[in-house]
Amino acid sequence: MTTLGTTSDGNTPLSPEELANLIPSLATKEELNEWERENILLGREWATAARTSPVDIASDEYVRKLHTKMFDQTWKWAGEYRRTERNIGVPVHEIRDRFMALCGDVRYWIENSTYSPDEIAVRFHHRLVYIHPFPNGNGRHARLVADLLATKLGRPLFTWGSANLIKEGEARMKYLEAIKAADNGDIQLLLKFARS
Ligand SMILES: Nc1ncnc2c1ncn2[C@@H]1O[C@H](COP(=O)(O)OP(=O)(O)OP(=O)(O)O)[C@@H](O)[C@H]1O
Ligand SMILES: [Mg+2]
Repeated sequence: MTTLGTTSDGNTPLSPEELANLIPSLATKEELNEWERENILLGREWATAARTSPVDIASDEYVRKLHTKMFDQTWKWAGEYRRTERNIGVPVHEIRDRFMALCGDVRYWIENSTYSPDEIAVRFHHRLVYIHPFPNGNGRHARLVADLLATKLGRPLFTWGSANLIKEGEARMKYLEAIKAADNGDIQLLLKFARS
C-alpha cells in the first residue's frame, strides 16, 4: 500500500496544495490509480469519438482539453498548467510559450512531412513530457496524444513496450531510459520502444 504524496522514479510528486484539489476521497495510490484509469477511459472515448484532424490535435486548446477530459472527475486542476516547479519540466513561467511553440512545430512537421508519422507523434510525446505542462498525468496524457496523432496519420496505436508503464518494472525502466536518450537529442530508442 502506498499513501498519496509519495513518488517513484520519473514520477512527479504531488504538492500538498495539489493533493488538496483531489475530487474523490481516496486513501491510497492504488485507489487513485484505479479511479484515474476510469476517468482516462472517458477521456479516450471523448477523443476517439471527436472528428479531429491531425493538425487539430497539435493545438494547445485541444491538448489541454484532452487533459481535462482525462482527469476532470479526479483533479480540480485538470487541464490547467502547473504552478509549481518540479525536478522534471521547464520553469513554470516558460510553460505556455514552450507549449505553443511545440504545437506550431508539430503542425509544421505534419504539413511538410518533416519526419515519418510515427516520428512526428513520438517527438510530440517527448517534447510534451519534457515541458511537463500539468501538475500530474503528463506521461499518460502525452502517450494518449501520441496514440491519437499516430492513428489520425494512418498508423496503428503505439504499443509502448506492451506493458503497464504506470507500474515500476522493466518496461518502465526502458521507457524512462528512452525518454532520457531523447532529452539528449536521440529519439531512436523512444521510437523503437513505442512500437515494441
Ligand atoms: N528525464 C525526463 N525527461 C522528460 N520526461 C520525463 C523524464 N522523466 C520522466 N518523464 C516523463 O514524466 C512522466 C511522469 O510524469 P507525471 O507523473 O506527470 O505523469 P503520469 O501520467 O502521472 O505518470 P506515468 O506516466 O508514470 O503514469 C513519465 O511518464 C515520463 O513521460
Ligand atoms: Mg504521476
